[in-house]
Amino acid sequence: MNYSSLFRRKTFTNEIDFDDENPNQGGLSDGLQEAVPHARHKMKRVLTVRDLTFFGIAAIIGAGSFSSLGGAVFNGGPGVVILFIITGIACAFTAYCYSEFASRIPVAGSAYTYAYASFGEFFAWIIGWALIMEYSIGNIYVAFSWSDYFTSFMHKVNIYIPDYLTCSYLEAKKVIETGGANSELLNAWNSAPLICEIRMIFDLPALIINILITYLVFRGIKESRNFSNAMVILKLFIVTLVILVGGYLIYSNGLSFNWTPTNDEGIKSFMPNGFGGIMMAVSGVFFAYIGFDAVSVLAEESKDPQRDLPRGMIYSLVICTIVYILLTLVLTGAVHYKKFDGVGDPLAFIFEPQNLNIGWMQILVSICAVVAMTSVLLVFQMGQPRIWMSMSRDGLMPPVFQKIHSKYKTPSFATLITGLVVGVPILFTDKTFVLDFTSIATLFAFVLVCGGVLLLPRVEKRKGRFSMPYINGKVIFPSLVILTSLCFSFFNKDYFTEIFNFDFTSNSDYSKGLASFMDLATPKISVIAFWLICIILSIFTYIKKYSLIPLMGVSTCLYLLTGMSKSNWAWFIAWLTLGLIFYFIYSYKHSKLANK
Ligand code: ALA
Repeated sequence: MNYSSLFRRKTFTNEIDFDDENPNQGGLSDGLQEAVPHARHKMKRVLTVRDLTFFGIAAIIGAGSFSSLGGAVFNGGPGVVILFIITGIACAFTAYCYSEFASRIPVAGSAYTYAYASFGEFFAWIIGWALIMEYSIGNIYVAFSWSDYFTSFMHKVNIYIPDYLTCSYLEAKKVIETGGANSELLNAWNSAPLICEIRMIFDLPALIINILITYLVFRGIKESRNFSNAMVILKLFIVTLVILVGGYLIYSNGLSFNWTPTNDEGIKSFMPNGFGGIMMAVSGVFFAYIGFDAVSVLAEESKDPQRDLPRGMIYSLVICTIVYILLTLVLTGAVHYKKFDGVGDPLAFIFEPQNLNIGWMQILVSICAVVAMTSVLLVFQMGQPRIWMSMSRDGLMPPVFQKIHSKYKTPSFATLITGLVVGVPILFTDKTFVLDFTSIATLFAFVLVCGGVLLLPRVEKRKGRFSMPYINGKVIFPSLVILTSLCFSFFNKDYFTEIFNFDFTSNSDYSKGLASFMDLATPKISVIAFWLICIILSIFTYIKKYSLIPLMGVSTCLYLLTGMSKSNWAWFIAWLTLGLIFYFIYSYKHSKLANK
């Protein structure tokens, strides 16, 4: 095998030219020349900037805010707002990078396609593989959360689904093994019928919604778009209502003291568990942002992708960041942060009788949550087949993945496989696992996308096209790295000595062996790696005058990765290994670039 062939790059024509009446307008982006003979123009170009913004919001606001926010707030207290701001900024930098790529390479495929143009095939494959975790595995978490809210809404209208049909097998088993007290899970285990000695416990609503969404996506983009737009309007309306009603009650009941709660040491603080507590919420908070990038996979169905994709991504990100900050403030103002322990429906929870006590808001929020999560499912379920379609066109996946349905004009086979990839694990996984798995993979993909933009040749700004502003990072980036390290040392003078301290003998967990040592050491190793990469980037930036925005994207996403635990890394590495095996057995040989 010739190792340089791993980095063979795909070059792109501006596919818009094939649609334009005047093929000479627009032209190719510099450095991205050469036509790629794909079967194209078979998908309908119907999406406008408003549709794309709506798609972004549809994908972003969902299980992250309605479900995982409870755990995030419990860990970090009101200070989680800071993490939302940091993550929002990291995503904004990344959105700029996605936009830059999307305006140069307006084809479906998202980060995968972009990596193919900048890093070459090997990294493109890694990203494509990681994106399966974002779209498909992420949808498993959303389907589980959807089921939680759906079931509790059903309870409110006096329709009861047996507990063994509303939770995952693993969750129920875990409660039995750990002696947990969750009565629904205990009841699910004890009342489940046995078939061949196996307890029939599975999440039926999660399975059914997956089948319905798969059907809708299979039927076509136009139908999906109309459905999605309607849901986004409804969910924005209700989220706004939660913010207004909750905000008003915090003000009128004088509850603002909850924003500086007393911690275990008796100190009043906006960050009761310190910055460490906030960083424990990274997976949940980052998951809440995932989705803006899904807009870019709709390039081939957009009317003017080069102008509208960047706008759609950035508009939807800005709107959602504002919503999250306000939602977190309302949540942590309405109820003391410690009460969110184990709360899976935090937005409905704050209106329960023991809290703000507004019954009709509880019902409205439950409906809203179901609607919001349906739209997330829809967008992600559309994203995955389109990435596979791109990979298949490049020869990295079997040809059947690019098959377009003759009547509905959708990637039919890839859509059905996505339904299976989401549906089957619903039977075997649980929520916590898929949440962490999704977040680490997506952050990893974002780092590579931002890194990819650093390698793109600079192009002149063109009218009507998005072009990322170039800010010379030569002096600014190294200065920011130094300034940030000084800030960290200022707030915690032992910060740098602590991260190099691998002596855990005083920690009782340490005695449990290598696995426990790695549990304690992983956060330190990732923080050391973060600073090392920042130093290396600073040196390269000083020499090569890299652009500041992608640099900030790389560094902020890398920083968020330092919040991931050992088991997150272990599963992620195992997943990548599986992907590499597939790559070398199939994709490497079948790649369209193999014989060039
Ligand atoms: N951001 C999406 C959600 O929160 C994935 O459901």
